[in-house]
Amino acid sequence: MPEIVKPTITYTGINQQIPYDDPDATILETSISNQIPHLHECGGNGQCTTCRIRVIDGHSNLSQRTFKEIETARARKWDPSIRLACQTYAKGDVSIERLVWTSAEINKLQLETIPEGSAEERRIAILFCDIRNFTKMALNNNTFDVAHILNRFYTVIGDPILYNNGIIYQYVGDEIVGLFGVSGGMREKNCADAIRAALGMYYAIERLNRMELVDFDLTIRTGIGINFGKAYIGKLGHPKHKQLAVVGDPVNTASRIQDYNKTAGTNILISDSVYRALPDGFLDIGKTFEVQLSGRDENTKLFEVKGFLEQDIQFQLQSSLDYLLRNEEEFAAEFYDRVFEISPETRTLFKKNMKDQGRLLTHMLGAIVYSLSRPENLKLGLRFLGESHSRYGVTEAHYPVVLQALMATIENKLGEFSSPELLSAWRTALSMITDEMRQFSK
Ligand code: HEM
Ligand code: FES
Repeated sequence: MPEIVKPTITYTGINQQIPYDDPDATILETSISNQIPHLHECGGNGQCTTCRIRVIDGHSNLSQRTFKEIETARARKWDPSIRLACQTYAKGDVSIERLVWTSAEINKLQLETIPEGSAEERRIAILFCDIRNFTKMALNNNTFDVAHILNRFYTVIGDPILYNNGIIYQYVGDEIVGLFGVSGGMREKNCADAIRAALGMYYAIERLNRMELVDFDLTIRTGIGINFGKAYIGKLGHPKHKQLAVVGDPVNTASRIQDYNKTAGTNILISDSVYRALPDGFLDIGKTFEVQLSGRDENTKLFEVKGFLEQDIQFQLQSSLDYLLRNEEEFAAEFYDRVFEISPETRTLFKKNMKDQGRLLTHMLGAIVYSLSRPENLKLGLRFLGESHSRYGVTEAHYPVVLQALMATIENKLGEFSSPELLSAWRTALSMITDEMRQFSK
């Protein structure tokens, strides 16, 4: 009898080779069952494109594109080497590379829907954030310190844009510009996303000042302006180097609103068009202004944003995630210790290396918090996760155990930052996640 050689999948980025045991499993399912992190926001439903791969070798060993994949590939002008792992099966050896890793990359996927060589009118929320005292810091400190702080700074200030489904349009000098709603969506959501990002940036900078910049004898101040309106968006420029360009009156106005913070002595200002998009009782508004911004004939109404009037769960989770997962390994180790203490029999369910398992869990928590800003994919993703857990032998009764262990770990890790509001936000979100997954237990 000739020996049957099983095909293999090679992941070029991490240089790992795994056998393709089950011909009925897609490439995505094979990654997951081998604990290779592979984003799949919509749970393998061919909708989100985060599972996309580039095929380096063995193209002819792959199944044909499904209808869903044909449509996606056509709309986004993909070349044949790009495939959706959740729609693709292998018949022989293949080498692949996973293409989407971070929230920044997921957000950039929105750019694929933007026309090339021409501009299209889209209704978007535009956020300008000005960073004061920044140049002073660059001049007064040595290069290593500046580079370190710059990196920290761009992370804490960029993450809130990305967590809220925004795109970082540009960093210009002391300014960062975020766009919300580039690929469509409701005005209310796009404006709420921009405000959540603004508050996230403001608190992140406050924390940076308090915890990391004290040694530099420096306090960074920010001024944020948000406007909503129709702007022209396109990928324009040299044929070999096209860049995202966003132009129009609302963009200039957003910049001027930001500037007005200096006169008004405020931190976050929004225009009337943002304010009107949001329901009554949503925002805690401070002062209001009626001003003539430079370059405009008529007066513009501006509103100072101080926070949300009611608890905003997404905001609470986003603002604590970075702190909670600052040491992912420790978080995961404590969590699993607690699970096994409450329910020792669950230990036998875990077949693989607990360190990799921990990495996957914390990665997934981050992805879930992030995808709360894109709820259309979240439910599908959780259904997929619930079904795979049912196959691992997880039953309905296990979910409350995990919820209890996660909450205890979160409370302990939050330490001095813990508060009843923060814990209740985490409990609400995690209960929703576990309830959703639990429905798919056998
Ligand atoms: C908040 C809810 C949960 C989340 C976010 C979560 C996340 C994950 C992730 C990301 C994986 C990696 C594989 C995959 O993507 O399918 C995984 C695997 C696994 N999870 Fe969970 N999980 C949750 C609840 C639970 C519960 C309630 C149990 C039961 C004790 C459990 C036990 C397992 C087991 C046994 C595996 C497979 C490990 C192996 O094959 O060795 N999980 N989980
Ligand atoms: S398109 Fe494959 S997981 Fe969403």
